[in-house]
Amino acid sequence: MLRENIPDLSTFVEPDRVRREVYTERAIFELEMERIHESVWIYCGHESQVPKVGDYFQVQVGRQPMLMVRGKDQRVRVLYNRCPHRGNMMCGDRNGNAGEFFRCSYHAWTFHHDGKLRSIPMMESGYAGTRFGHDNPECSMKPAARVESYRGFVFGSLAKDGPGLLEFLGASRVAFDDMCDRAPEGEVEIVPNCFRVIQHSNWKIFLENQLDALHPSVVHQSTGRAAHEVEKLIEKKTGSAPLSYHMLSAFATVTIDQWDNFQTLNYPYGHCILTGYMGLRPKDPDTLAYEAVMQKAYGKKRMEEIFGVNIHHVLIYPGLSVQSPLQQLRAVRPLGVDRTLTEIWHFRLKGAPEPIYRRSLAYYNLVNSPSTLINADDLENFWKCHQGLSSDGGDWVSFGRHFGRDLEKDGVVETQPNMGTSEAPMRNQMKAWTKYMAKA
Ligand code: FES
Ligand SMILES: [Fe+2]
Repeated sequence: MLRENIPDLSTFVEPDRVRREVYTERAIFELEMERIHESVWIYCGHESQVPKVGDYFQVQVGRQPMLMVRGKDQRVRVLYNRCPHRGNMMCGDRNGNAGEFFRCSYHAWTFHHDGKLRSIPMMESGYAGTRFGHDNPECSMKPAARVESYRGFVFGSLAKDGPGLLEFLGASRVAFDDMCDRAPEGEVEIVPNCFRVIQHSNWKIFLENQLDALHPSVVHQSTGRAAHEVEKLIEKKTGSAPLSYHMLSAFATVTIDQWDNFQTLNYPYGHCILTGYMGLRPKDPDTLAYEAVMQKAYGKKRMEEIFGVNIHHVLIYPGLSVQSPLQQLRAVRPLGVDRTLTEIWHFRLKGAPEPIYRRSLAYYNLVNSPSTLINADDLENFWKCHQGLSSDGGDWVSFGRHFGRDLEKDGVVETQPNMGTSEAPMRNQMKAWTKYMAKA
């Protein structure tokens, strides 16, 4: 990459605004991949995606095609999806089972599930006296520099140095605690397929939208109003409407000023939490049956603590957006300066009754999937933002809402009461970005 093409990045970010080139310059994108996505902890997947020995799942970490694989020792590892012989991709399928070992489809070098070389055809006659063979680590599949998991969620880092996963996650680990604690068995299981959406916009535009509490009642108002009309009709006829209508009508019934009642908490490394109760404890028979199972598993006091966790959304910078109360997760995989893949996953609460899973599935389909207008309306804005930022119509992106009014305590930036629509999360993300990008 031509580093001389990159101007001094410190002049690109001010506390309340960012230059447009940060979203549109290819050279800056390449540097972001190197210094952010291929350096920090990136979510690879959930352990339940690879339940059996030899199971693998492809995952993109920064620009690197990787494989998450379960070994004979039950450990989940992350390896580069590349044969050390002549560079062939080891697994062409998105996921599958390697069998007893990986076998390259080109010249049949084989590898254990931990990536170590197992055999080369006619190795003795072909390689005796050469540098190639079992003793040379370059003849094995290369592992990610670091792999750690937290409550079944596997992260990889391609840099050998840096904070450990727990330190990196900090307070944002509540995303996984909240999700798992809501399961009577204390664990979740992934629904082993996801929606994949390619957004025609820079990866940061998606992340900045996740905790943007001002946009929902604008962007999603039309969908919310239509759903609310139907919800009212059903209520009139039957006395109550299914919770799934509420998932959509809330975009209209929670008005723009009410979003200010939410609060954001902004943490080191760019992570942020949006608080706000999601209305998940109606008194319907399904919820009551679930509460009974939870009370049996945890006792009343602990159950109330679990259900009382006040989270709407957790953003784990730079690649994960989690809605733990409804077991949803979106992973961001940047493909290019103006192309971003999002993987949209959801989970089952182990031990919870089936209707509670159906609730998660309803939210997945109605709010987060590519088939809903909620998602489509967001995507349209992301694309339009990228188009506008590619023009000469202005140099800056503004993050000035409630700037200077946030409260800072022990490194955590809290929005003040009735300032939930503050652009503090965007400022916090760019603060982390600036730190990462300044690394030598
Ligand atoms: S490229 Fe894999 S064995 Fe030759
Ligand atoms: Fe949205």
